[in-house]
Amino acid sequence: MESNLTLAERTRRRLDRVDDVPTLPPVLLMVWELTGRSDSSAADLARAIGSDPGLTGAVLRLANSAYFGFPRKIGTVKQAIVVLGFDTVRSLATGASVMRALGPSSPSGMDAGEFLRHSMVTAMAARLLVERRWRELAGSAFCGGVLHDLGKLVIAEYLAEANTEIGSRVADGTSREDAERETLGMTHAEIGGWFADRWSLPEELAAAVRWHHDPAGAGDRERFAAAVHVGDVLAHRVGAGGSGRNEPPALRPEACTILGLPEDELGEWTERLAALTVEMPSAEAALGLGAK
Ligand SMILES: [Fe+2]
Ligand SMILES: [Fe+2]
Repeated sequence: MESNLTLAERTRRRLDRVDDVPTLPPVLLMVWELTGRSDSSAADLARAIGSDPGLTGAVLRLANSAYFGFPRKIGTVKQAIVVLGFDTVRSLATGASVMRALGPSSPSGMDAGEFLRHSMVTAMAARLLVERRWRELAGSAFCGGVLHDLGKLVIAEYLAEANTEIGSRVADGTSREDAERETLGMTHAEIGGWFADRWSLPEELAAAVRWHHDPAGAGDRERFAAAVHVGDVLAHRVGAGGSGRNEPPALRPEACTILGLPEDELGEWTERLAALTVEMPSAEAALGLGAK
């Protein structure tokens, strides 16, 4: 236990020393500020996002993607704010920005296309699961899904040796979680959570990242984490697990309880998600990451 703590501390120190962590666009900080205040208007928020054409395009692309599944075309940021609400637009802006900052570089030891497809299918499932009961949480659950495995990107990008070590332990039959703990003293969920803090991501997104393998730990954000957790499991079940080596995460029954979802309905959910994901556009395109 002691040595594990030391290992985790060493990992944290190594991550603290990384100084080429990409920065998020300054306009995103303004978006967070505006959406956190009660006196800001849709026009203020639209103006802020509109001042950054890259972010505007990314938000609209994500909102109109088949993964997000909104039934009408959203033509402008203003319209997105009106029909989807502040929280969802904030989440879309955050999800798109983080993936654009960290996602496109195809870090070694990872199939970026498969990784992104896994993220987007998890997002889609998380949204569907949460909106059965809490429509207002759907947009943030979706973006929690987009970002949930952020820690895997961080490991691949900044802890390359450890990434190789984890890969060989997994190839030898160790579970991914155990391999991460043995190598880094932390899991990718914890590392993603650390990163979310470093970037001061909105709390519900940080919670979805940090607790997606243990949703009951997320306190009052447990609905987001539970939706992303079950979404993650379902994504694996429909063949969008990220890469062949990724074993499906074990389902936490408490996630179903949190979502008010009878476990015996998961088979139907799997079929439904499989049907929805038969023909999906590329996840890179939905995230505006430049792939064709
Ligand atoms: Fe994960
Ligand atoms: Fe995952």
